[in-house]
Amino acid sequence: MNKLLKMEGLERHYETPAGVVKALDGVSFEIHEGERVILLGPSGSGKTTLLNCLSALDSPTGGAYTFMSTEKEGFDAVPRNNSEKMTSFRRENIGYVFQFFNLLQDLTVLENILLIQELAGKKDPARAKELLKLVGLEAEVDRFPGEISGGQQQRVAIARSIAKRPTLLLGDELTGNLDTETSNKVMEALVSACKQENITSVFVTHDEGLVKYATRVIRIDSGKIVSDEQTNNDSSE
Ligand SMILES: Nc1ncnc2c1ncn2[C@@H]1O[C@H](COP(=O)(O)OP(=O)(O)OP(=O)(O)O)[C@@H](O)[C@H]1O
Ligand SMILES: [Mg+2]
Repeated sequence: MNKLLKMEGLERHYETPAGVVKALDGVSFEIHEGERVILLGPSGSGKTTLLNCLSALDSPTGGAYTFMSTEKEGFDAVPRNNSEKMTSFRRENIGYVFQFFNLLQDLTVLENILLIQELAGKKDPARAKELLKLVGLEAEVDRFPGEISGGQQQRVAIARSIAKRPTLLLGDELTGNLDTETSNKVMEALVSACKQENITSVFVTHDEGLVKYATRVIRIDSGKIVSDEQTNNDSSE
């Protein structure tokens, strides 16, 4: 498997009146194409901060982060402290399901998906509808986010995140608002989409039950990796 990205000694420190908060304090790992990583850790351990650095939503304050772009040859330093370059990095490479779903309230369910595809230059209404069917929302395509439940909004956010076929898919508590049955359905759909389209994923969760969908489990505490293990679930089938 090809290497997709590498972080080395990554730091995200915040200066606060009360002192320095080390949200990430020397994180190093490599992720290969096709891996499905689950990131576990207590509240405040740095999980969201790590996803935000992985996606170039946030700029690390130290360390190195390089990414293998599918468009170009070789590894590039991921842009930081430059919002335009960070935005284009995200558009080209990243799908992100946020802890709070961030759907656009003035757009319908379907339009939320079409917009993301359009921004990535990959408009494909047929695929958008197919993905909404995959997450069980074919009847809700023309409703607005304010007219569907929290769990349904989360499923829209999930469909949206894979609509443009990202290289790297990130999810923050992406099944947090779903019942076990729906959560399993959504995870199975995601895993099969990731396998079919060679999408690499990193999902943050508190739910140890999701480990069965992962090929690798990384545990983080106080901004440091405390364990990093492969599971027996195959990533290459
Ligand atoms: N803007 C900020 N300024 C100062 N400290 C911050 C800021 N954002 C986050 N932190 C701190 O960084 C640490 C990591 O936060 P982070 O949001 O990454 O945790 P988390 O693991 O995602 O937690 P949760 O499971 O509760 O979502 C916490 O101690 C948090 O208080
Ligand atoms: Mg968080």
